[in-house]
Amino acid sequence: MTDDRNGPRNAPAKDTPVAVLGLGLMGRALAGAFLRAGHPTTVWNRTPSKTAAAVAAGARAAASPEEAVAAAGLVVVCVSDHAAVRDLLDRLDAAGPGPLAGRVLVDLTSGTAAQARENAARVAAAGGGYLDGAILAVPPAVGTPEAAVVYGGVRADFERHEPALRVLAPDATVHLGEDHGLAALYDAAVLGLMWSVLNGFLHGAALLGAAGVDAAAFAPLAARSTVTVAGWLEGYADQIDAGAYPADDATLETHVAAMDHLAEQSAGLGVSTELPDLVRTLAGRALAAGQGGASYASLIEQFRRPAPSGGEGGGE
Ligand SMILES: NC(=O)c1ccc[n+]([C@@H]2O[C@H](COP(=O)([O-])OP(=O)(O)OC[C@H]3O[C@@H](n4cnc5c(N)ncnc54)[C@H](OP(=O)(O)O)[C@@H]3O)[C@@H](O)[C@H]2O)c1
Repeated sequence: MTDDRNGPRNAPAKDTPVAVLGLGLMGRALAGAFLRAGHPTTVWNRTPSKTAAAVAAGARAAASPEEAVAAAGLVVVCVSDHAAVRDLLDRLDAAGPGPLAGRVLVDLTSGTAAQARENAARVAAAGGGYLDGAILAVPPAVGTPEAAVVYGGVRADFERHEPALRVLAPDATVHLGEDHGLAALYDAAVLGLMWSVLNGFLHGAALLGAAGVDAAAFAPLAARSTVTVAGWLEGYADQIDAGAYPADDATLETHVAAMDHLAEQSAGLGVSTELPDLVRTLAGRALAAGQGGASYASLIEQFRRPAPSGGEGGGE
């Protein structure tokens, strides 16, 4: 294609040709969303048979990643991991000069911030723009208001393709900043949050289960409490950013007493104490550092540094 491969600047978003490389579960959902929105969509997958559903929905199957890239100014990659992205970039490099020149490659493969920055440098060296994205959704949610996709990279690259990218997450397509590593960092932070909430629920369900209470009986109060705690986040964020932790609600000392009850109850019922022990270890170090009268947010100081080696910790 010639200069107009991105469509004229003011063309309706649906005219933007898109290439999707990697048609696993997520890649198929991405291609499906672009096709439903009317984008000319070219797809490539290492195992060609997986392109069948997208082709039936109107996509063109390319015989190689180079051929797919040549068809679009917006190239979306979604493969298993960073090693697979490296393989793809190696293959594009080997294809001769310039397959990525003037294009924007959007990598929606999960990875780390360092991997995103490495990809960005490689694509820049090949003359292309690079956005690193994280999909905070499962494949069936792609293209619906439930989906969120966040991006890090040069703002102009994001804005150039924002209308097409919005197809994937109509209500939550967010440019986080120019650091290519930001999407991976946010992704990791949200996953950690998710596991903490789920682990708290599972530990509580185990505790109550040992007393004969069904998880279903616990779930409504657990959900309500999760919402209550979510309401505290902004206030604690202000304390963290200010570096001052006034205990307007409860002191860390009061929390530690409750943590002791949780551990005691768990041990008494034959339930794992690993989760309460972890929290008590962190809180114990904060008490040892003289933070007993501060708010729970002061624990950020413990999360900000590596765990001490050799078992030093101050847990009770
Ligand atoms: N599924 C989810 O709920 C979800 C949610 C958020 C983010 N993600 C992320 O999206 C990415 C893809 O996930 P998925 O669920 O689509 O996985 P998947 O169904 O296992 O698909 C993996 C894809 O990667 C391709 N691939 C693997 N190694 C490759 C290589 N060396 N060269 C070229 N292609 C290669 C596979 O090709 P073949 O078909 O030839 O094997 C396939 O298309 C992952 O990074 C995942 O973390 C997934």
